Amino acid sequence: MVNNIVKNSPMRASMFADTLLGPKITCPKPVKIHPELRVCHARWIEIPEIVDGKDGILSVAEERKNIPFNIKRVYYIYNLLNHHDVQRGKHAHKTLEQVLFCINGSCRITLHDGLETQEVVLSRPNVGLYIGPSMWHVMHSFENNCILLVMASDYFNEEDYIRNYDDYLEHLQRESIIDE
Ligand code: TYD
Repeated sequence: MVNNIVKNSPMRASMFADTLLGPKITCPKPVKIHPELRVCHARWIEIPEIVDGKDGILSVAEERKNIPFNIKRVYYIYNLLNHHDVQRGKHAHKTLEQVLFCINGSCRITLHDGLETQEVVLSRPNVGLYIGPSMWHVMHSFENNCILLVMASDYFNEEDYIRNYDDYLEHLQRESIIDE
């Protein structure tokens, strides 16, 4: 009797209903809403959105598949209480590669490669921004519910940071990334 109640309960029906819904649909959004990037050392990375008849969407990032490096570190920025005033970043890296995903809310990122400057919006959890070495970047205009998730190609190393803008320009010239 107890078994019958469990077998026929709506809960049990819904637990198995996905078998009735047909195959999984994996749908990377066909429409690219992000602008073309004019700066060097940056590109958009779109990861799949899996919508499979359950509530919610599942997005997946995999190293050397849709993330173009081995992921040694993941960190995230959240709890942006003074989000109107906050500016983060304001540095470049000598070697580090990163992909940034805004997995909740939105923020803006100003990218500067020594010549071009471009401001972009990060607002879709399945669209990441790859930032390679030698890219000056500033994250700002955070929504207060913003969560910025970053996958990085290496462990934290303060030596890899260039935090002073004049040092950054010198670095670009030294590495022959831009002419004097
Ligand atoms: P920083 O990279 O300057 O933050 P943001 O670019 O978001 O402004 O790092 C802020 C502080 O956190 C700094 O003292 C270094 C420390 N930190 C770590 O200890 N480990 C990490 O992986 C990161 C990213 C930062």
